Amino acid sequence: MSQILLNPGPVVLSERVRNAMLRPDLCHREIEFAELQNTIRNDLLEVYPLTEDKWAAILMTGSGTAAMEAMMTSLVPDHGKVLIIENGVYGERLTRIAEIHHINHRTLHHEWDKAIDLKLLEDELQTHEEFSHVAVVHHETTTGRLNDLVGLAKICKKYNLPILLDGVSSFGAEDIEFEEWNIIACAATANKCLHAVPGTSFVICNRNALEEMQATPQRTLYLDLASYLKNQDANGTPFTPSVQTFYALSEALKELQDQGGQKKRKQNYWSRLNIVREGLEKQGIHALIRVEDCSCVLNAFHLPADIDYETLHDALRENDFIIYAGQGALTQSIFRISCMGEISDQELERFVTLMGNIV
Ligand SMILES: Cc1ncc(COP(=O)(O)O)c(C=O)c1O
Repeated sequence: MSQILLNPGPVVLSERVRNAMLRPDLCHREIEFAELQNTIRNDLLEVYPLTEDKWAAILMTGSGTAAMEAMMTSLVPDHGKVLIIENGVYGERLTRIAEIHHINHRTLHHEWDKAIDLKLLEDELQTHEEFSHVAVVHHETTTGRLNDLVGLAKICKKYNLPILLDGVSSFGAEDIEFEEWNIIACAATANKCLHAVPGTSFVICNRNALEEMQATPQRTLYLDLASYLKNQDANGTPFTPSVQTFYALSEALKELQDQGGQKKRKQNYWSRLNIVREGLEKQGIHALIRVEDCSCVLNAFHLPADIDYETLHDALRENDFIIYAGQGALTQSIFRISCMGEISDQELERFVTLMGNIV
């Protein structure tokens, strides 16, 4: 059985990436692993592209949440305070991380279906002058909303606040202006827009920002970015990495380059999502969010009134399509469709036709 995964990662792999995992077994203390790791680190910086003297790609074994937690614990100093912006599950997860690790923070909460209120943000920054960082999710996968980083970054710049970005479901496809947006770190993962497998995640980090953290006591053993950076810059790794998933990521990054890079991937995702969006709209199935506010990675749709999520999911699954439920209060009102991975337009057209037959 081969399923067509329309969930937001893991994705349908290309044969090229799948086969890469069959490469020879490797000890992570040997030169071949160091070469593999260096290639990935360089290729990750190439995605946007960023220069090696100022930026580092720091690799770890773990899912996207590991990268988020590493970013938050390794980059907000003891004497700092982070303003965390929430408008969905993943913004709220950033807050949970701050709570668990006793990171000084304040949250700017929004309902899940709302855009970030920039006026409110500016008021907050004006009233509380003590912030050292702002943490925010780029693509809030809860609803498919692409948060307005252009507007947000303008305000953060005005108050000289660096941004910690959760780019887990945007890195590799959406535009990310690291310098322009005052980003000092971006947490991301291999198994979404980069089309590799779960198991490797990473933080793209400004080297100076990590350097400045030396005066702050280490908060975590496994997720400490400074330890990873020191080891990886010296061709090593602090812990045993998931070698086969590194193979997959390395191949997936070559594939991204061969396919025209991030901009092309974004274009490609839009053309796929438009097949779904326009097709479903004709059947009276409406998108949750205006197209201009959506990511190219995932869109959410209102569930038609006469069908529940489980029935829809199971009927599609019988035809090899896997869709994704809403979270929390949205569980019974929306479903989500992502078009990452090795998916063809024909498969998406078949999906739309099938939806027409089911609902
Ligand atoms: C924006 C965002 N952040 C973080 C995560 C968490 O990633 P993981 O499930 O790989 O830990 C996800 C997962 O979908 C996500 O979409």
